[in-house]
Amino acid sequence: MNHAAVSWWQEGILYQIYPRSFQDSNADGIGDLPGITRRLLYLRDLGVDAIWLSPIFPSPMADFGYDISNYLGVDPIFGTLDDFDTLVAAAHASNLKVILDLVPNHTSDQHSWFIESRSSRDNQKRDWYLWREPRADGAAPNNWMSEFGGSAWSYDAGTKQYYYHAFLAQQPDLNWRNPAVRQAIYDVMRFWFRKGVDGFRVDVLWHLIKDAEFRDNPPNPSFRLGRPPHEALLPLYSTDRPEILEVVTEMRRVVDEFSDRVLIGEIYLPVDRLVAYYGKDLSGAHLPFNFALLSVPWNARAIAKLIDDYERALPAAAWPNWVLGNHDRPRVASRVGQAQARVAAMLLLTLRGTPTLYYGDELGMQQVAIALDQVRDPFEKNVPGIGVGRDGCRTPMQWNGDAHGGFTTGEPWLPLANEYAHQNVANLSADTRSVLNLYR
Ligand code: GLC
Ligand code: CA
Repeated sequence: MNHAAVSWWQEGILYQIYPRSFQDSNADGIGDLPGITRRLLYLRDLGVDAIWLSPIFPSPMADFGYDISNYLGVDPIFGTLDDFDTLVAAAHASNLKVILDLVPNHTSDQHSWFIESRSSRDNQKRDWYLWREPRADGAAPNNWMSEFGGSAWSYDAGTKQYYYHAFLAQQPDLNWRNPAVRQAIYDVMRFWFRKGVDGFRVDVLWHLIKDAEFRDNPPNPSFRLGRPPHEALLPLYSTDRPEILEVVTEMRRVVDEFSDRVLIGEIYLPVDRLVAYYGKDLSGAHLPFNFALLSVPWNARAIAKLIDDYERALPAAAWPNWVLGNHDRPRVASRVGQAQARVAAMLLLTLRGTPTLYYGDELGMQQVAIALDQVRDPFEKNVPGIGVGRDGCRTPMQWNGDAHGGFTTGEPWLPLANEYAHQNVANLSADTRSVLNLYR
C-alpha cells in the first residue's frame, strides 16, 4: 500500500456464498437472490464484512453458472436484476460489501459471442475465441487437456476448425490477446461497478493468456494414477504465461476507475508464481487467493512452513489472505475432522491477512456423500470415481431442524447432510461452545 488508510478488504472478513445452496425463497429447491437477502442479518451477526457470490448470471448451467451466456443479467433461477439491486441495497444498509464472480476466461457456448464466432470463419467475432486448424491427420491442434477430462479441443464441423476449452466443451475460452475481448469484459466490470458492486473474484485468472504458438505441454513426471487425467501434462504453455500480468494490471486499472473496490484472483499456483499476481509495484490483484491451506498435510510443522514460505514470498507491502474452503474443494471439517476444524478456524481468523470463509464451514458442515444417481457436477460425470466430485461441498446450508434444514420447502437440488438435524444455525447458536459461536 502506498497510502496509510486500511481498506475494508484488509480489515474485513469475506464470506463465499454458493447461491444455489444458500436459501431458496420460491420452493424450487434452488437457492436464489431473495433468499440471500433474507439471510443478511445472519451474516451480519456472524461478523463477516463482505459476501462473494458464485456466478448469478444467465447460464445453461452446464458448470452451474461458470458457463455464462450473458454477463449483464441475472439467471431467472436466481431472480431478476431488481432482486439483485434489492440485495445490494440491503447488504450495504447492513454494512456488508458485495463481491461478484467474474468469469472472463470462457463463456458459455450459448453466449451470442460464441454463436457468432462459430457461425463462419470470417465472422467479425471469429477471433474472439481460440480457433485452430486440425493437424494434417485431422487430430486436435495440440495435446492440451481439459481440466474436466479429455482433449481441450472440440471440432466444429460447420467451419472445420477446432476451438479450445480449458474446461467443458460448453465453455469455449475467449481470446485474451484480442483487445476487443478485453474491452468487452472491462465494460462488464464497469456495468456491475455502476450497480454498486464492491469487487470481483476473477475465475481462473492464471488461465487467461495461452502460448501464442500453442506448443504442446510437456509430460508431468510426477503424475500418479488416480489423479485427474489432465495432470498427466504440465500446463506450461496453456496457463500462467508472462503476458498475463499485463492483463491483470489492465483489469486493476478498471477497478481503480471506481473508489474502494477490490480485485481478487482465483489462482492455483506455487507460492512464488502466485505472488507475481500482486503485480509490479502492487499494480495487479489486491488479493491473489492463497489456497495453500486447502492442500497442506494437516500437521503443525507443515502448516508453519507454509505460513513462513508464504510470508517470505510476499512482495513488500502486499496484503496476505487465507482460504480454508471453497466450492471446488472438499469441506475442511471432512479433511481434518471436527476437532481440528476448530483449530483451523482459529488459524484462519488469526493469521495476518484477510480470511475468506466458505458458507457452512462455520457450522462444521461436512462433505456429503452423493449417490451415483444424484451426481450433478460435470467434473465427476466426466472423470468418475476418483473423488474429484464437487457436489459434496455444495450441499444446502443447514439453517434449522425443519425439513431440508429450512433451506427449501421444495425438493433440494442436492441432498442435505444427515447431520443437519442437529448441525444447524438455530441449534448451534444456542450452544455457547459450538463451532458457530467459536467463529462468531
Ligand atoms: C473455477 C471455478 C470452478 C469452475 C471452473 C471453470 O475453478 O471455481 O467452479 O468449474 O473455474 O469455470
Ligand atoms: Ca429458488
